[in-house]
Amino acid sequence: METDLPFLQKKAEDFFSFFNEAKTKEELLKLKAEFLGESGPIIPLMELVKKAPKEQKGTLGPLANTLRSKGLESFQKKWDFFLEQEILDSLKKNSLDLTARESFSALDKNLGGLHPRTVVQREVEDIFTRLGFDILEGPHLEDDYHNFSALNIPEDHPAREMQDTFWLEGTPPLLRTHTSTIQVRGMKQHKPPFRFIGPGPVFRCERTDASHESVFYQLEGMYVDKNVSVAHLIYFMKVALKEILKREAPIRLRPGYFPFTEPSFELEIECALCKGKGCSVCKQLGWVELLPCGMIHPNVLRAGGIDPDVFSGFAFGLGLDRLVMMRFKIEDIRLLQAGDLRFSYQFAGRSL
Ligand code: DAH
Repeated sequence: METDLPFLQKKAEDFFSFFNEAKTKEELLKLKAEFLGESGPIIPLMELVKKAPKEQKGTLGPLANTLRSKGLESFQKKWDFFLEQEILDSLKKNSLDLTARESFSALDKNLGGLHPRTVVQREVEDIFTRLGFDILEGPHLEDDYHNFSALNIPEDHPAREMQDTFWLEGTPPLLRTHTSTIQVRGMKQHKPPFRFIGPGPVFRCERTDASHESVFYQLEGMYVDKNVSVAHLIYFMKVALKEILKREAPIRLRPGYFPFTEPSFELEIECALCKGKGCSVCKQLGWVELLPCGMIHPNVLRAGGIDPDVFSGFAFGLGLDRLVMMRFKIEDIRLLQAGDLRFSYQFAGRSL
């Protein structure tokens, strides 16, 4: 057996690449056994160290150790590579390709789809983002400040009775009754000029009927800049509504009252279900309140840290469910939440 140092050193170093070139785990284990075994380079190297004269031990010893640990390192590297490969292979084997038609042929007839409200919400979001609006969200659990006081509805104000609130025992103490809470949060997040919309569910403790639900969806909007007037409000609402309804639906503007806007308006559209004749959805009026809106009250701007002498703006609270009902001619708002598959499947596939 050759025992000189350069030969053994080369033999050890050769193993580094052998390890790397191993094709299987078994081959790799065999190489490791050879490397450390009787016929490998390490044992004779250690012998050399043992026999070496004292003054050479100091350099020989560390050299032998380094060769050993470097060899084991390249073994380990390859070992880990094999393990990773195994995991990847099993993932590949066990995964399900959801885009392959045959993997869910059994479900073919029951393909899911978007809820009609999601379809409409996405369309409206699209229209407003094209008009330069950001999309914001707000929490469903709210405090008094964001739901009322900051919106110019102080305690004892009769307007608090306009919306029947679900009060909770903990904190935050209530379920938001409108998405106008997002106005308050949005003003804190943005420096004017800004424009954003805020869609989401709202909650009211009220009796349900064909046009009232205790959970329904609104889409709030806020536009703040210098010199914003009612003309801007009407222009934006007209453009948006035409896009949303995909037709020039008859609309009318009535004076309204909201504490957070002055002046306030009710924008109504002709009921699409009865074409203005009167039905249960429009409470026999022929018109549906779709878009309450108005010029933002100075107190609201002030609460949001905006100087009402410099900036003005308009706000609106689109009733998303009503819009969905007009759009798809749905006669009962409760259907939207009922989870009845016979209802849902009518929309499946519309938007996939
Ligand atoms: N928050 C009101 C409600 O839920 C709707 C509303 C009216 C929102 C006027 C507005 C607005 O932003 O300007 O009844």
